[in-house]
Amino acid sequence: MLRTTTLEINRSRLALDLGHTSKFQTRREDYWKERKSEFISPSIFKENSSIHLEIGSGTGGFFMELAQKRPENFYIAIERCKTRGKALVKKTDKSGLQNIKGYRANAVPALIHGIPDNSVDRLYILYPCPWPKMSQRKNRWYLHTVMPHFLRILKPGGHFIWASDQKFYIDEAAYVCKEHYKLEILAHGEIAPNPYNDFDLFPTGRTKFERDFLGRGLPCFELIVTKS
Ligand SMILES: C[S@@+](CC[C@H](N)C(=O)[O-])C[C@H]1O[C@@H](n2cnc3c(N)ncnc32)[C@H](O)[C@@H]1O
Repeated sequence: MLRTTTLEINRSRLALDLGHTSKFQTRREDYWKERKSEFISPSIFKENSSIHLEIGSGTGGFFMELAQKRPENFYIAIERCKTRGKALVKKTDKSGLQNIKGYRANAVPALIHGIPDNSVDRLYILYPCPWPKMSQRKNRWYLHTVMPHFLRILKPGGHFIWASDQKFYIDEAAYVCKEHYKLEILAHGEIAPNPYNDFDLFPTGRTKFERDFLGRGLPCFELIVTKS
């Protein structure tokens, strides 16, 4: 039985935020048009039938392990931070694995202009910066200009997998996904093994941040949604 939690969030403020996101969507997309977006080779999407994408992957340990265990999938990891991004590229390029590619880049322009519609089977956002201050909330991924593009690139039936140590972040993401974007929730609540999250393969945590939080006995939360 998958867990679900009750939402305790400010719905009216989120509705205003979403209205704001929609109002400025075109203008913000135009801004990103001028930024480099074609760093992911289009051939990856043509040549692979099952694509998994991680945004803000850190040094890529999670996808490296999955790429070894699941050669039938192609794994794309994107990390913006210079140090972690360089380590990611070095690690994936030297791995000898043919089914993983790491990029040191800002994922936003690629998400808006560089990834085809309905092309990604699994999309992961694990332990993003939660932007907790009210004044920063437009940076939360579910209120960001890229949010409609996350859904555009996801295949019908594909899984969008979120995790955070911040309950409010996961609850707000669940509200936005369900009520605004009409996605189906498959799992929502404190993290526990389920058929979608690969937790059975990573019992101490999938990523560095997850291992750190769980190792300190702190709760972690997840949201898994699907585009039907
Ligand atoms: C808190 S860390 C979590 C790293 C990893 N997912 C983990 O769980 O260990 C969030 C990461 O997202 C990256 N990030 C934030 N915005 C990004 C963007 N626009 N494009 C690519 N990476 C981004 C940050 O550089 C940072 O390394």
